[in-house]
Amino acid sequence: MTLGPAANVGRELAGLERFGQVLEALPGPAYLVGGTVRDLMSRRPPRYDFDLAVVGDAERFAGHLAARLGGTLTTYGQFGTARVDYDDRAHVDVATARTETYTEPAALPDVAPADSIEEDLARRDFTINAMAISLPDARLIDRFDGIAHLRDRLVRVLHEASFVEDPTRIFRAARYETRLDFRMDPKTETLAMLAAPGVAQLSGARVREELFAIFEEDEPERILARLHELGIDAQLDVEFPAAPTDLQQRLRGLNEAYSLGLPRAHLGLLSIRAPEGWLDDIKVNRRIADGVEAARREEPFLRSALTGRADAPAEIVEAVERTGPDTALYTLARREDSALRRYFEQLRGVRLEVDGDDLRALGLEESPRVGEVLGELRRRKLNGELAGRAEELAAARELLAE
Ligand code: CTP
Repeated sequence: MTLGPAANVGRELAGLERFGQVLEALPGPAYLVGGTVRDLMSRRPPRYDFDLAVVGDAERFAGHLAARLGGTLTTYGQFGTARVDYDDRAHVDVATARTETYTEPAALPDVAPADSIEEDLARRDFTINAMAISLPDARLIDRFDGIAHLRDRLVRVLHEASFVEDPTRIFRAARYETRLDFRMDPKTETLAMLAAPGVAQLSGARVREELFAIFEEDEPERILARLHELGIDAQLDVEFPAAPTDLQQRLRGLNEAYSLGLPRAHLGLLSIRAPEGWLDDIKVNRRIADGVEAARREEPFLRSALTGRADAPAEIVEAVERTGPDTALYTLARREDSALRRYFEQLRGVRLEVDGDDLRALGLEESPRVGEVLGELRRRKLNGELAGRAEELAAARELLAE
């Protein structure tokens, strides 16, 4: 990684796609803060969302900015935060520079307006995230040696109480270590281990948000393995993989190959061993939690039900349909299986061309027999005994005549 010296910040900024418009439209002084500065100073690819801090009223500032950019303003009513969407895919978040005081560890802090950007930077998680670029003059503010730590590939907290006050930062540290291929410095790592019990005090929803952020990353299992090493999963009464496997890559690959449309967070949950009910505790949607829990429980049964069945299509479908919606995917991702491959590639899409209306036209009144006949027709179709609507209708007539 090459770093632009501080004097070149202006040039780095000019290279930020879509940011030029924002610079020209600024209604007053502001600071670019957070991940964008970190990424910019380490020449990582630009993102389309920018965080600005203003010393003063962020909502007013954002209102003027939106008007000048011809963008849309959204205000959050929370402490001085607003968002401006512009140019289709880009947005800027504007926040009032603030101080944070933690009256209780692991709870949300008391927030107050800061008198300077330096005060705002001092409340942040890591030195690499605690830099700012003043606008419009493009001056780098780096009170905590963020540039040096980017160069040395270090994740370092600003002060000793950082993880105790906000244990979500332990998850964040592991995320940055993996994403950027950095390492916590030894003291920060010790502080993270000492603060580990604090994660048990976090609300379920905050734990869920941290996990979901991990699942959006390229290598979630490496991050989980690191958190395991730090003792975080034990504090949460769950088990993260002790070493990265290729499970997530396989799940993502299958999800894509078979257009299953599952979000990464959903796939990610399949790599955590948790007691029944834990997903509920962290407020995961009931339907997803049920599917994930069923998958882990049912995998061995589905696998043994399918052993030696690769040539029996109707039996494959029947076995899969007896399980929850995620079980087949999870079972195949865990280990290759020819019957399940066949299910996803071929059998899952098999549909009858006749339905209950056709059976009614053949004289069968609404009754459980309708389902039975359709089931039998589907079984025959899966087994390759029926091709096309005419053959399905003929078979239906035969069955009704029995
Ligand atoms: N921040 C913090 N403590 C937290 C969360 C966030 O100090 N628990 C600060 C950091 O300065 C961080 C900024 O808020 O850079 C924005 O947070 P976020 O959007 O979560 O992260 P980014 O730094 O933008 O990084 P990324 O989204 O790439 O992970």
